[in-house]
Amino acid sequence: MQKILVTGGAGFIGSHTVVALHEAGYTPVIIDDFSNSASSVIDNLKDLTTSDLLFFRGDVNDKTFMQKVMRDTKPSAVIHFAAKKAVGESVANPLAYYRSNVDGLLTVLETMQENDIKSIVFSSSCTVYGEPDVCPVTEDTPQKQATSPYGATKQMCERILEDVTQSDALNSVALRYFNPVGAHPSAKIGELPIGDPNNLVPFLTQATAGLRGPLTVFGDDYGTPDGTCVRDFIHVMDLAEAHVSSVKYTLSHNGYNTFNIGTGHGNSVLELIKSFESVTGQKVPYSIGARRPGDIVKIWADTNKAKNELGWQTTRSLDDSMRDAWHWQQSLK
Ligand code: WQD
Repeated sequence: MQKILVTGGAGFIGSHTVVALHEAGYTPVIIDDFSNSASSVIDNLKDLTTSDLLFFRGDVNDKTFMQKVMRDTKPSAVIHFAAKKAVGESVANPLAYYRSNVDGLLTVLETMQENDIKSIVFSSSCTVYGEPDVCPVTEDTPQKQATSPYGATKQMCERILEDVTQSDALNSVALRYFNPVGAHPSAKIGELPIGDPNNLVPFLTQATAGLRGPLTVFGDDYGTPDGTCVRDFIHVMDLAEAHVSSVKYTLSHNGYNTFNIGTGHGNSVLELIKSFESVTGQKVPYSIGARRPGDIVKIWADTNKAKNELGWQTTRSLDDSMRDAWHWQQSLK
């Protein structure tokens, strides 16, 4: 079976993509240094994939390590997740973000070139758009000045991929994720933030489980129907399956391409809370607080390009995401 190298494969989106790759008949080859993931994820993935995977512990910035893995496993394609992804942290420590996110991609591309591997799927983000003037955003929506070093690294990496694709006959796809939420329905893998969660849903499920104080909704005075921010919350398994479609696409199409990977719908923070309460029967402890600096008011995706060119679209609802997120939180007891 064709091997697909998954850097950051023990992470939230990476681990779910490993399962989707296995289900599609590929052999996942995972690289992870556990800097932002737990080693237990590998054991759980072996359960979910009947051990049909390979794992190598190491850092994508370690050229010698990467060269050995690529030479020994000879993957058909690479999915590159391994990167730092906390917006606030990137403002506090921009150098670490440029080293990890930009230098890491360069190391992956150089070792691919040296091993004649031509296909890569890259983990980008809707952050590249900044605060859009119009929603839904299409892939042609003009990108604004990044509002964080994290967003800047994603814009730089997309440009690097586009330039290297043109010069080296690389076949590459950048997937612009919206807001990944939920967990695998088995509750064996899910979002496992180390320390205090940055993102809404893990904070919400931990507050509901009584593991921390009430959730603070960061502002209800925005120009939206209920005053809270609007996002495109996509089930992580839908997002994982988009990576399988993208691997197939890079193995059969030349050039560089970008795709919005979202549901195509916007939901507010309060609508997400209502969805969670309705499918779990739990009451979310929350209060309304001040706006969070740097938050954009609203963003959601136009997903027609992924539907028409990747043959991919979401099949899971926000209720499905909330149900699976709660099952995952309960499994962590
Ligand atoms: C969502 C909404 C908050 C926490 C970021 C990155 C993006 C991607 C996903 C990596 C916002 C509100 C949150 C809380 C709240 N990451 N919120 N109380 O900021 O949309 O996107 O994470 O790729 O690139 O930018 O996600 O989950 O932090 O926030 O009210 O305790 O929930 O204000 O409106 P965000 P988020």
